[in-house]
Amino acid sequence: MIYITRRETFSAAHRMFREGWPDEKNLEIFGKCSNPEWHGHNYVLNVTVKGDIREDLGFFINLSTLKKIIHEMVIEKVDHRNLNTEVEFMKGKIATTENLAIAIWNELKPVIEMYGAKLHCVRISETENNTIEYYG
Ligand code: NI
Repeated sequence: MIYITRRETFSAAHRMFREGWPDEKNLEIFGKCSNPEWHGHNYVLNVTVKGDIREDLGFFINLSTLKKIIHEMVIEKVDHRNLNTEVEFMKGKIATTENLAIAIWNELKPVIEMYGAKLHCVRISETENNTIEYYG
């Protein structure tokens, strides 16, 4: 089995908070990312897919196809957007990187499978020091 990882970047605004909690409580639980006036991150998204090489092609999914899927299903929907208010697949969720990774997994999985590949991992870095991985 071969694993391929495609790296993409996007910039987005968010706020981590629970509706109904006072700002002080949100600050205590979610830290700086609970700022009521929003803030942004330069996210790095790594999507790893796996599959068996087709002997007639020497690969199992075209990298330009993988790029196109990630752009259409994710990047175009999140880049320069507010994750809390503008991104359909994040509606009703707390805008943590954990929830973002799960939501992106759910967006990508069926489409990647349509191309005969399997989604292996969605990895998102919110900062250089904080990385979340989701394996389904
Ligand atoms: Ni943040």
